[in-house]
Amino acid sequence: MIGGAVFGVVIPYVAIAVFIVGVIYKIIGWANSAVPLKIPTTCGQQYTLPFLRRNIYDRFDCPQTMWETVGRMFFEIFFFRSLFRNTRFYYAPQMKYKDARWLWLFGIAFHYSLLLVLIDHLRFFMNPVPWFSSKLTDGLSLTGVFVPTLYLPGLLIVVALALLWARRLFFGKERTISLPSDHFVLILLLAITISGNLMRYFYKVDLEGVKELILCLSTFNVARAVSIADTIGPVLYIHLTLVSILLAYFPFSKLMHSAGVFFSPTRNMPNDNRVHIHINPWNPEVKGITYEQYYEMYKDQLDEIAENGYKVKPEV
Ligand code: HEM
Repeated sequence: MIGGAVFGVVIPYVAIAVFIVGVIYKIIGWANSAVPLKIPTTCGQQYTLPFLRRNIYDRFDCPQTMWETVGRMFFEIFFFRSLFRNTRFYYAPQMKYKDARWLWLFGIAFHYSLLLVLIDHLRFFMNPVPWFSSKLTDGLSLTGVFVPTLYLPGLLIVVALALLWARRLFFGKERTISLPSDHFVLILLLAITISGNLMRYFYKVDLEGVKELILCLSTFNVARAVSIADTIGPVLYIHLTLVSILLAYFPFSKLMHSAGVFFSPTRNMPNDNRVHIHINPWNPEVKGITYEQYYEMYKDQLDEIAENGYKVKPEV
């Protein structure tokens, strides 16, 4: 009874509350931060004299208009375009750059399989299950070769996370710059995805019960949620508790990059310094005076200077 209430109800509720409050708090903080300077990162030909041609890549790498900036953000968010130009410099004896785009590959494999796993999870959160969720799950499952049917994104996510963690563990440079928090998120995500796969293939849980539990939690039917939580197996508790830790940790971790990318001035600003003056909207208002007021204040001196043909003698 107590186990079901704690792991199935209390911990998930606390985690969701921390997640929602934390994310809103962070976003308000970012939205209220001054951006005093134009600081988009650029690496293409800026819009300039008409005979300096710009190709399509320059438009995304050095966007000048709002739409070029939107295009740049689109490719960044959906294809991690800046990571795709990843190179590494090797000192002696090679002294050259080498392609390091495997990081892009691991990164994109992880993020897209996460997306597909979460779309598959909609079957626990929605009634009826959206048509695209079951269609995608069927389309991405390998049937007939192995028993049981393998859900490929669920396995790929574990492989991608293992590779991303191996990179931090076994490559000297990456190991040096890795913080405990870098390892922590990867271990946490690995634990979540491995426990999920354990449920899918080895320690079956009552999926109808899981769905009812989640729907009861989302409609605040706490009494029913506690009684269902008692009947579902312990592996689900592990999975759910790890997910709760992830949710509660999310707003305070580097995982907030998923929201932060939209607020990043190096990405979301067009590079139009030569066209518009960028004025920091947080600058204090300058209370200036008109020329007429100025003239009125210094009338005598200004008239005298004008009479002398604007020749000002140095004071002795
Ligand atoms: C409240 C949130 C969640 C619940 C209730 C939940 C529940 C479950 C259940 C019951 C399964 C077994 C599915 C089956 O037997 O067919 C599963 C599998 C899995 N879960 Fe979760 N899960 C949640 C969140 C997450 C999150 C956030 C992740 C990823 C970070 C994740 C990753 C996985 C993976 C990789 C599998 C195995 C592949 C699959 O069935 O899709 N889960 N989950």
